[in-house]
Amino acid sequence: MQYQVTITEILKRNILIDAISPKEAEIAAWNRYRSCDIVLDYSDFIDVDLAVINNQKEVELSQQNLNPLIPYFKSTDRTFTLLHGDCFKLLREFDFKFNCIFADPPYFLSNGGISIQSGKVVCVDKGEWDKGKSQQEIMEFNMEWLGLCRDKLKDNGTIWVSGTYHNIFSVANCLTKLGYKILNVVTWAKTNPPPNISCRYFTYSTEFIIWARKCEKKAHYFNYELMKHINGNKQMTDVWHLPAIAPWEKSCGKHPTQKPLALLARIIMASTQQGEWVLDPFCGSSTTGIAANLLGRHYLGIDQEIQYIEMGKNRRKELENPQTYHKYRSKIKDIQFIDSLYPTTVKEDTNITYEDLPF
Ligand SMILES: C[S@@+](CC[C@H](N)C(=O)[O-])C[C@H]1O[C@@H](n2cnc3c(N)ncnc32)[C@H](O)[C@@H]1O
Repeated sequence: MQYQVTITEILKRNILIDAISPKEAEIAAWNRYRSCDIVLDYSDFIDVDLAVINNQKEVELSQQNLNPLIPYFKSTDRTFTLLHGDCFKLLREFDFKFNCIFADPPYFLSNGGISIQSGKVVCVDKGEWDKGKSQQEIMEFNMEWLGLCRDKLKDNGTIWVSGTYHNIFSVANCLTKLGYKILNVVTWAKTNPPPNISCRYFTYSTEFIIWARKCEKKAHYFNYELMKHINGNKQMTDVWHLPAIAPWEKSCGKHPTQKPLALLARIIMASTQQGEWVLDPFCGSSTTGIAANLLGRHYLGIDQEIQYIEMGKNRRKELENPQTYHKYRSKIKDIQFIDSLYPTTVKEDTNITYEDLPF
């Protein structure tokens, strides 16, 4: 006979936190603890407890109680939530199924390369999180987060993953190994790419976005008619001609790999309905969340860098001003298009769900 024995060590330390309220202090302490800024060790040890547990439910509950998830930010209407921390850890800490996932993971291309921006030579390194890895390490990284994301998708849900040749073949490989079914590989052809200063090969002007569904056999949602209308009543192809990010999208600061809202708006319109939930596990400045909320979808974003989480929070706060909300909608061509049709030919399905995150 085997019994599960839970050993709970009790560690305790008092710390001082500067904050404007007890709630803020609690959130700040959780965030510092999660990002390993505060590490309790044997010098903080005060007690130990042993329990034999037969019931799996009890085990889950006791674990949840030990480690409640506290969002870094939640909009007052609960449609936009941010978690600060490592998605490999946080995705394991809650149970919720999303309709759609968009992920823009590290491409592992920060190896000291250079490019031209506004006429100046600049280094293209993005940050520590994007430093080059071996093919084996990239494969392990992609297998792990794509596996965690599959558990977070509804059975009819879909995932979009962006990348360049540095990571996209590994992503495609992992998706297939994990049981996803690849639906399309969209080529985002940038209408205004930066020049190639070496003049030794073609200018890089594309990124790829793989669209896959969770299950081989379970049908997914595709807003085919809307995509066709947007494309002048012709079937939309898998080559999307969209510009790179515009200056108005950087009103809250600049993320080194920020995606344009036009790209995310098309993805969300194509694969989700109003009121549905979109997850972004590498959310950066939360372009996904802003596009989701501009289109009436719900959003959870995760990022390990506090400055990007702050940027996402500030971008969402901007939308609380109705003028800004309408201005941003009017700058995105596909949204402009549905606004011009409404309420005539094409109207999006309104399948409002009332689910909410468990935190
Ligand atoms: C390519 S960027 C995403 C940019 C985003 N699409 C935008 O529009 O701003 C990848 C992000 O993943 C974050 N990141 C990398 N590893 C992570 C991890 N293990 N957990 C959570 N975030 C991570 C980085 O901080 C970075 O902001």
